[in-house]
Amino acid sequence: MYVVEGGRTLSGEVRVQGSKNSTLPILAASLLCRGESVLYNCPRLSDVEASLTILRYIGCNARREGDTVIVDTGSVTRYDIPAALMHRMRSSIIFLGAMIARFDRVRMSFPGGCELGPRPIDLHLNALREMGVEICEDHGELDCSIRDRLHGAKIALTIPSVGATENIMIAAATAKGTTIISNAAREPEITDLADYLIACGAHIAGAGESTIIIDGVERLHPAAHAIIPDRIVAATLMSAAAVTGSDIRFKSIIPSHLESVIPVFRECGCEFDISGDGMSIHTPYRLKSPKLIRTMPYPGFPTDAQAPMMSVASVGDGMTVFVENMFESRYSHVSELCRLGADIRVEGRVAVVDGVKRLLSAHVHARDLRGAAALVVAALCARGKSEVEGIEYLERGYEDFELVLSSLGAEVKKV
Ligand code: UD1
Repeated sequence: MYVVEGGRTLSGEVRVQGSKNSTLPILAASLLCRGESVLYNCPRLSDVEASLTILRYIGCNARREGDTVIVDTGSVTRYDIPAALMHRMRSSIIFLGAMIARFDRVRMSFPGGCELGPRPIDLHLNALREMGVEICEDHGELDCSIRDRLHGAKIALTIPSVGATENIMIAAATAKGTTIISNAAREPEITDLADYLIACGAHIAGAGESTIIIDGVERLHPAAHAIIPDRIVAATLMSAAAVTGSDIRFKSIIPSHLESVIPVFRECGCEFDISGDGMSIHTPYRLKSPKLIRTMPYPGFPTDAQAPMMSVASVGDGMTVFVENMFESRYSHVSELCRLGADIRVEGRVAVVDGVKRLLSAHVHARDLRGAAALVVAALCARGKSEVEGIEYLERGYEDFELVLSSLGAEVKKV
């Protein structure tokens, strides 16, 4: 757990870690590039370690030197992923496209449900079927093979799923012919994956837009690539600054990735100085409540920033309505924020937050990654000593978060 002494003002400069959601698909994609890929700015997170464990199980050599991960996928020995490894990380389904492209065969279990509600993979499976993959689903196991050769296809996604777009892009990179994905996800992590694949010799156009065109090439070669900064970690730190009335400076971020987040903080009365890859946030004494926050696919407001933003709204002057459009059950932090004194009512996908002047310390339990971040943010401004349990969720996505916050002047200890 974290023990947080609330009420400290933050100050100083912070470097934002590399993006988890970029690192995971890029590690999976490295399987296609027989040889040694070098990935800079890879955060040290339990989800990243789970991906490296899967790569090692398959027979790859993966090692870390500081922030750099070196993966040699030259020799591989297996085409299966055991259930225990699949269940360690929700996003392990991202290995499906890469394994089928590399081995023409893959056996893995379903990644299973998750704490955000059911997380179906029908879009992933349907797309791969259109590309020539035969998929046998049996008792939670997936057995996939290719009769002839993986081939390109026109794939229209009914939802712009991030994971499905990534799986298709990876599988299509070395498939025979052209793949066109319409209604593709447009998240910056999709563009980062495309940039890595292009560096490896793939032909991909349109990443970051709704239509992505991939011309399959015979083979990819390894490449060096720097992972983009994590926009959700940046949004969480912005929330930490806002609730504590602090001014902090970010270095190594991409402000354009926060285009839907910055206006919400402006609505709260925060001001920004933005230059190149640096950004400062200046926060008012009392935050104003943003009126309405609806989570949407990129470039809309990210569902991953909903929970930390709710901590901000909890101490705003006024009322905020949240509408969670992306996942069914993403309000597990609400009951715990209420234990800290927040005034929040939930009805289905809608949460109504009546801002209070001050939160009070409490012992709270995190139940998912972003919910854990929200509780830590709330504890930073709650009067007294709070304990936040369930930090193992936080560590799936935030690198040394207690040290990052401490370096800004917060009083946070991991015990
Ligand atoms: C990714 C992110 C996650 C983020 C989410 C939405 C990673 C590792 N994780 O998750 O942090 O919260 O995007 O921005 O990048 N869906 C289906 N069928 C499918 C696939 C998805 O119905 O086959 C639905 C999901 O239930 C969800 C919506 O589509 O309601 C969006 O999910 P998706 O974009 O696929 O999220 P992930 O890739 O799992």
